[in-house]
Amino acid sequence: MSDAAADQGMDRDRRTWIAITAGVGAVGGVAVAIPFVSTFAPSERARAAGAPVQVDISGLKPGEKLTVEWRGKPVWIVRRTSEQLESLSKVESQLADPNSERTQYPTPEYARNRHRSIKKEFFVGVGICSHLGCSPSDKFVPGPQPSLPDDWVGGFLCPCHGSTFDMAGRVFKNKPAPDNLEVPPHMYLSDSVLLIGEDKTA
Ligand code: FES
Repeated sequence: MSDAAADQGMDRDRRTWIAITAGVGAVGGVAVAIPFVSTFAPSERARAAGAPVQVDISGLKPGEKLTVEWRGKPVWIVRRTSEQLESLSKVESQLADPNSERTQYPTPEYARNRHRSIKKEFFVGVGICSHLGCSPSDKFVPGPQPSLPDDWVGGFLCPCHGSTFDMAGRVFKNKPAPDNLEVPPHMYLSDSVLLIGEDKTA
């Protein structure tokens, strides 16, 4: 199918989640350590209706990513290392919207900062590319590698058409994806429990 036909065939508003399961090494490890939202999870019916999802992040180690489902979408929780946090300032001149000012997928006020999060260490983002809805892959290891620039500092690569995002989900310039990854409403119920789908402004 041509790109144009693909564009027509995919309704961007519905943003079908195309599960591309590349780069799942770290995810798999975490999934074993932390069962999918375990006992905190609401019923399937409640989740489908958009109920907030509580997530225990106590087992998440620096450099690991946990994926949970909210409203049928994958939501990533990444515990960033200090090196990954440092990388955020290095790439800002290469980003399309470094300050999260675009309004297509408005970034909540509490995440409109360089790290796009409430707590610097933890990034919470919807793992769906803002181009045509593929799920980007983890590319956390810096350095030259296929489909990435030689000065790559770590982030995410969308395998569908090559859009790249930094460790805060900010899209690089001149890529098919027009916007940063969406940050869902969320809040901390405690140091170890996150609530996805609701925040203090709701
Ligand atoms: S869906 Fe096209 S670059 Fe991600």
